Amino acid sequence: MDNRPIGVFDSGLGGLTAVQKLMEELPDEDIIYLGDTGRVPYGGRSKETIIKYARQDIAFLKSFDIKAMVIACGTVSTTALGEIKDDYNLPIIGVVGPAVKKAVEVTRNKKIGLIGTVASINSRAYDRLILEKMPEAEIFSAACPLLVPLVENGRINRGDIMIETAVREYLEPIKAQGVDTLILGCTHYPLIGEVISDYMGEGVTLISPGAETASYVAKLLGERGLSAESGHNNKYRFFVTDSVDEFSKAASLFLKKNVQGEVNKADLSIY
Ligand code: DGL
Repeated sequence: MDNRPIGVFDSGLGGLTAVQKLMEELPDEDIIYLGDTGRVPYGGRSKETIIKYARQDIAFLKSFDIKAMVIACGTVSTTALGEIKDDYNLPIIGVVGPAVKKAVEVTRNKKIGLIGTVASINSRAYDRLILEKMPEAEIFSAACPLLVPLVENGRINRGDIMIETAVREYLEPIKAQGVDTLILGCTHYPLIGEVISDYMGEGVTLISPGAETASYVAKLLGERGLSAESGHNNKYRFFVTDSVDEFSKAASLFLKKNVQGEVNKADLSIY
């Protein structure tokens, strides 16, 4: 048993897709979430910058004596994780492995769509792992640089012309290939899951990397004897690098839980 918190981070709201699932599957765990909202989006930045930001995010969360770190960000998982994970003495879990595992399990026609940030798509990290697990798979991918800013600005609902237009434009070529599975390779995208699903149609299974990773973490903690005690009086804390108010409102809506009062400002410049 280990009652220390789990650290989770993303550039913004996207990592809450992992937090939501962690809360559901591991209701006794303390969670500390960091959203680097002052620097979102990460996905159009260089590898060096993404690595630098990731190290600062990790250093901040490590200051809380966490027992495991969830990189609930596709961009950091694809671009920085390989380089940095051995530098820290704690389990660090990225989203690529769990998302790919699920995708190859559910595809029937072995045509897998993949969308993500520019950094994630260019890294080809998802493609490599899919082909390792399923060499005959066909992968159809697209970078979608406008989706994260739209999500961060609350343009997430069905009927919102901006998000619907962007989704259609990015997904049209992938849909035309007849994929039956679509990896939402950036953790922000499940927040527009309804809009994406409406466009892709019922026959296409959407994979949420954050949610898949949370399930993987639940299993891992159990196997390593790192789960919190049942009935432990657990806490959720959230940190952001920009407006506390904006994030509190958006996170409360998404998590269907009032987190106002649990959100504080983080200063990453000291790391
Ligand atoms: N949620 C991050 C990801 O999964 C967003 C990336 C960004 O900030 O551009 O890639």
